[in-house]
Amino acid sequence: MKIAFSKIAIPAQGAVILPVGDGGRLGPAAGALDKRTGGALSRAMKVADFRGKREKTLTIVVPAGTKLSRVVLVGVGDAKSVDGMAAERLGAVMFDAAAGDAGVAIVLDLFDGIAAGAVAAHIAGGLLQKSYRFAKYRTKEDESGKPKLKDVDIQTGAAAEAKRMFIAVSAVVDGIFFTRDLVSEPANVIYPASFAARARELAKDGIKVEVLGEAQMKKLGMGSLLGVGQGSERESQLLVMRWDGAGKSGGAPLAVVGKGVCFDTGGISLKTPPGMWDMKWDMAGAGIVAGLMRTLARRKAKVNVVGLCGLVENMPDGRAQRPGDVVTSMSGQTIEVQNTDAEGRLVLADVVWYAQERFKPSAVVDLATLTGAIIQTFNDHYAGLFANDDDLAQRLGAAGKTVGERLWRMPMGDEYDRELKSLIADMKNIGSGKGGSITAAQFIQRFIRKGTAWAHLDIAGVVWNEKGTVLSAPGATGFGVRLLNQFVADNYEK
Ligand code: BES
Ligand code: MN
Ligand code: ZN
Repeated sequence: MKIAFSKIAIPAQGAVILPVGDGGRLGPAAGALDKRTGGALSRAMKVADFRGKREKTLTIVVPAGTKLSRVVLVGVGDAKSVDGMAAERLGAVMFDAAAGDAGVAIVLDLFDGIAAGAVAAHIAGGLLQKSYRFAKYRTKEDESGKPKLKDVDIQTGAAAEAKRMFIAVSAVVDGIFFTRDLVSEPANVIYPASFAARARELAKDGIKVEVLGEAQMKKLGMGSLLGVGQGSERESQLLVMRWDGAGKSGGAPLAVVGKGVCFDTGGISLKTPPGMWDMKWDMAGAGIVAGLMRTLARRKAKVNVVGLCGLVENMPDGRAQRPGDVVTSMSGQTIEVQNTDAEGRLVLADVVWYAQERFKPSAVVDLATLTGAIIQTFNDHYAGLFANDDDLAQRLGAAGKTVGERLWRMPMGDEYDRELKSLIADMKNIGSGKGGSITAAQFIQRFIRKGTAWAHLDIAGVVWNEKGTVLSAPGATGFGVRLLNQFVADNYEK
């Protein structure tokens, strides 16, 4: 899709989108069109009882006295209160309303003087996010149902400002698309080595990419991660991506760690068939980390961030690890693997430890589709937030609120940690089965050093959506890229 920003001038032909404020308020250009058409817009609003409520739409086809194909009225509610997130949502609504046309002019004549540039840039961002389709494996598709929109002309009184702000917005969109591509791919296409190969493309954005194989991880003592990948024909990989946008003076980096289980069968503790296919997206945490790196690099963020992904495939096999096996993690702590399906924490244990050892980060944030229990808790409305640091938790929660990717803090404590006691090793990898998201978080915390600020996001409920969300078609949502980008912008770039 091609996006242009230009000054306000309703075209004579084609499709036009016009924002409508509370009570059916039209901007000056829309008002003039209404006059020219003998009140076609205001009469249509009246008949349809359309009052400009935010995200409501009303389409008027071939309005008399014009050569326009259609005018889509999009309610924006109180125009003054349209912030970046609201504008992105409006952009997505506009995409859906205009997807049937090849081109559309979006005439933002209601936002003069009120962050008009930002509103225009974020509307563009929302349009793009909603336009994403993962269609590469469709060999036949009904042309009539396919979105046709190619050219979008966003008209605003602040076109120069919009263009400038769109640089950062489109960097975020690029990151989200990179994430969605990785998450959508099936596991015969994206496995540890091919994930790492795709991440190497980030070198073109200025990211330093390193990939460690099994021999190197063995030397480092990563018995916990390696145990998970032991039953797979695919070699496990540790992916390290560095963006040093703040240089030496920027100090210790923020470490962002992703669970990258490219397929989770459960291993010998095999899952049941229904829904097993969706364990192809058990690498979404890693996908988000890779997408975030692209975003930070493309908008040249003045921050040092290291992204680390533990990439494995969890398979049942003659060589697979068995329930009850004891492995030794890089930290030296031993783990009794009572359930091979609780594998994400085993992967993260070694990766967060490695991150702390090597990079001495200012904070560690991990993202993982870690537990089914978090879906029982929040459905797809919130990701679970766990942290050993109130300040870090607050900042993440605030960033999530800003971009509409909501987090809810969960409790932690000794009473949960105790459940990880093992008869023969330092810990086991499952608790009682109750409060499972919390015992999973407690497990990871055992690999966080005293004094390291750490937060864990359990994203199992929010990275894939069968129905689609406001900003994404059914499938991969890209949740987390906007959130962490906002978190970085708010806290590390001042
Ligand atoms: N990847 C799953 C968690 C998951 C389930 C993510 C459904 C997305 C949708 C994870 O590896 C897992 O299997 N967790 C187990 C842990 C249990 C064995 C302690 C779970 O949640 O059932
Ligand atoms: Mn599992
Ligand atoms: Zn898993």
